[in-house]
Amino acid sequence: MKQAIIISLGSINKDIQVRTERWPEPGETLLSQDYMTLGGGKAANRAYLVRKLGAPSLLLARTGDDEEAKEALQPLKEAGVNLEHVKQRKGQRTGLSMVVVRADGKKTIILSANANQKWEQEGPDLVEQVISEAPEDSVLAVDLEIPAAVAGKALQAAKKRNFQVVLDPSPTHALKAEYYELANFLTPNKSEAESMVGFEIENKEDGFRACEAIQEKGARHVIVKLGKEGYVMLSDNERHFVPAPDVQVTDTTGAGDAFAGALAFALWEKQDALSALRFAVTASSLATETYGSQPAYPDRATIENKMAAFEL
Ligand code: RIB
Repeated sequence: MKQAIIISLGSINKDIQVRTERWPEPGETLLSQDYMTLGGGKAANRAYLVRKLGAPSLLLARTGDDEEAKEALQPLKEAGVNLEHVKQRKGQRTGLSMVVVRADGKKTIILSANANQKWEQEGPDLVEQVISEAPEDSVLAVDLEIPAAVAGKALQAAKKRNFQVVLDPSPTHALKAEYYELANFLTPNKSEAESMVGFEIENKEDGFRACEAIQEKGARHVIVKLGKEGYVMLSDNERHFVPAPDVQVTDTTGAGDAFAGALAFALWEKQDALSALRFAVTASSLATETYGSQPAYPDRATIENKMAAFEL
């Protein structure tokens, strides 16, 4: 039997990143430090991490036919991600993210989605075919920075195969009512969860209420990421809380992608929901310790050592 794989579907970008002491005021020119260009995009980041952790990793995404595409793809090539189904769109620009990281590690991103939103007409069918031909027990991890027709078809195809599906509902305006039942793990952060449920989340209890409200819409396992305040999960009907390990935060860019990638990896290994959550929380926290997304992603031994040290 062919080995199960992890399929990452969503955005691939070139990231341009700088660090500033504070956000600029309107109209202000602010000097920055630590200029860096690197491969990014949510699906590309997940695909990179799951490969680094040791799983066969396949990326489904679209780039432009420009120099930026080469930069976005290079680290994935080097890591050994399967790029067979990443197509270049003629005459389009590759997605570009302008990332500003503040001294406390918080970031703002301005995204030009470009080719990520320019899939060819037959894109949804191609994605369906890849998923329907993937080995048994493969895992699909999806974000919503791509056309709804592509994401929707992929989620349906994965459901038919009974695959584990991790859906990062970002951006939430692209989340459709029918996706809740199609994704068995839905992983909003605090502000995404607030926009999904319509109330503010100020503590753990609110987090659980949000999980319940989201579960009522059809999702089986719901995880609300509260950052430093920890992670709450409603898995079937059981409540779980995992605190965030103590880390020195340098840059939060890509930490959510590390979470989704590590969760997909642990599910691919057939860990149960709670162990998978602990693994993902640790990977995501460690990813904030260094500047950048992919270059900051931890390997398996580092995650396991941290879990042991933190007694997770
Ligand atoms: O989640 C972080 C990623 O999202 C970055 O790599 C950037 O490309 C943005 O789109």
